[in-house]
Amino acid sequence: MPDSKHELKSKVKQRKTFAIISHPDAGKTTLTEKLLLFGGAIRQAGSIKGRKSQKHATSDWMEIEKQRGISVTSSVMEFSYRGYQINILDTPGHQDFSEDTYRTLTAADSAVMLIDAAKGVEAQTIKLFDVCRMRGIPVFTFINKMDRFGKDPLDLLEEIEQVLGMRSCPMNWPVGMGSDFRGIYDRAHHRLELFEGEQKRTLIHTDSDEVDNPKFKSILGEAFHNKLCEDIELLDIAGDPFDEDKIKAGALTPVFFGSAITNFGVQTFLDQFIQLAPSPSARMSQTGPIDPVETPFSGFIFKIQANMNPAHRDRIAFLRICSGVFKRGMQVNHVRTGKRMKLAQPQQFMAQDRQIIEEAYPGDIIGLYDPGIFQIGDTLCETGSFKFEKLPSFPPEHFARVTIRDAMKHKQFEKGINQLTEEGAVQVYRTFIERTEDLILGAVGELQFQVFEYRLKQEYGVDVRLERLPYQFARWVTGENLEPRRLHSSNSLCVKDQDGNLVILFENEFSLRWLKEKHPSLSFHKNSYDIHDDIK
Ligand code: G4P
Repeated sequence: MPDSKHELKSKVKQRKTFAIISHPDAGKTTLTEKLLLFGGAIRQAGSIKGRKSQKHATSDWMEIEKQRGISVTSSVMEFSYRGYQINILDTPGHQDFSEDTYRTLTAADSAVMLIDAAKGVEAQTIKLFDVCRMRGIPVFTFINKMDRFGKDPLDLLEEIEQVLGMRSCPMNWPVGMGSDFRGIYDRAHHRLELFEGEQKRTLIHTDSDEVDNPKFKSILGEAFHNKLCEDIELLDIAGDPFDEDKIKAGALTPVFFGSAITNFGVQTFLDQFIQLAPSPSARMSQTGPIDPVETPFSGFIFKIQANMNPAHRDRIAFLRICSGVFKRGMQVNHVRTGKRMKLAQPQQFMAQDRQIIEEAYPGDIIGLYDPGIFQIGDTLCETGSFKFEKLPSFPPEHFARVTIRDAMKHKQFEKGINQLTEEGAVQVYRTFIERTEDLILGAVGELQFQVFEYRLKQEYGVDVRLERLPYQFARWVTGENLEPRRLHSSNSLCVKDQDGNLVILFENEFSLRWLKEKHPSLSFHKNSYDIHDDIK
């Protein structure tokens, strides 16, 4: 245990906690696996891939569920590399896309944005990138699949700028691509990494710090070398210069090219990433910034997973440590309820295992057994009673009416709905104007409905019917003299959320505009957190 602040400081400095964001099929599983191999966390390529291909083959939650023990432990993967302790947070691919995916990013200190060179910036990457930008965390870009023919590298940089509004700074530059891929030129170290040989990695150094030197020319041949020189000249003149402060502020993304499947450019990327990526720093709380070293143990819950192990019916809350030293069995304040509690049996997640841990430090993620008291966003702290800033909520885009098939199971149904909502799996709304009360589910991704339906059946023994509704977004409404009946229209539906707040579901922008014009004194909020602030 670090017995001094000095030691704790060095533990904090060693930690790099990040998430990989990408569109499905860009190569996230492949890249993660290669990173874990470098860290010695897995011994064999294919261990993670194997699990994923099973997912793919069935592309169906029922089968995913069978794999659950494995897929869930991989929510966080930790390994050490060159004196650093690296925590990778898994943001599931589109099959598992949910609010949970977004929320995981709140626990990361940086993100690696993985882009398929042939496809460029894709839809899901944009959504996840927006969350990173909102948090102002640094984003590192890895452009993958250079061994295949893809878009022109300069066009890819332009796309990052146009689509994401982020300036970029290539750390290395590809020579050729697809079957002509020769390797990458490292701009900082003025060296070539050749894509050849068994290891697909031959490093060529020169004494010269210019790309235009005879050694490179003789290795690459005139045509490739000329093109490389032209490109580098263009980048030097017209590109954004490397600026560590801008990278740390999330205003500039360093770009690396490579090929995860052949393990080319991955280690070079990792080496530079650990140097540049931020270690845990102060986090905002409602009483000001919480310093990782100066404040005794504190952290927040960003994810809850019920029934991780169906045999034990357990529920695990994932906590991101923000300050101080965590020790097994320690007593902490559960700020929301004001209760003092003991943290027994904390778990840490290795690539394929979970194990009981004795100690953990800022930046680490631990799993806590949850007897049903934790909620997403809860703060735990050793001393004091501050709360970390609220986690953002992400407005649902899919809606469905849920009805129970067997009315005798109503009690289990309510229990299941409550637990799954606390987990953040779906949001629940209730109609209240008509005589009967309908339950409406809202989700960020369509798959959440299937997961919800399946889990209700498996874990609570309840069969439900889901009927998709045409609504596309929700707005929380506040204002004087609210008359819900007057807010109804043929294209919108007035409901209440879990906390009894008034929400309107809209089919399109037009119906929202229409209602706004009709009721100019009302305020329409994109998520519930805004109105909580109004109300308090
Ligand atoms: P994901 O987790 O982001 O969804 O992607 P994943 O790693 O599963 O990769 C998606 C596909 O892209 C896989 O092919 C994988 O082998 C391939 N891939 C990943 N990195 C590279 C790369 O650097 N170059 C090339 N050429 N391909 C790459 P698949 O055919 O879908 O699966 P599999 O049969 O290889 O398992």
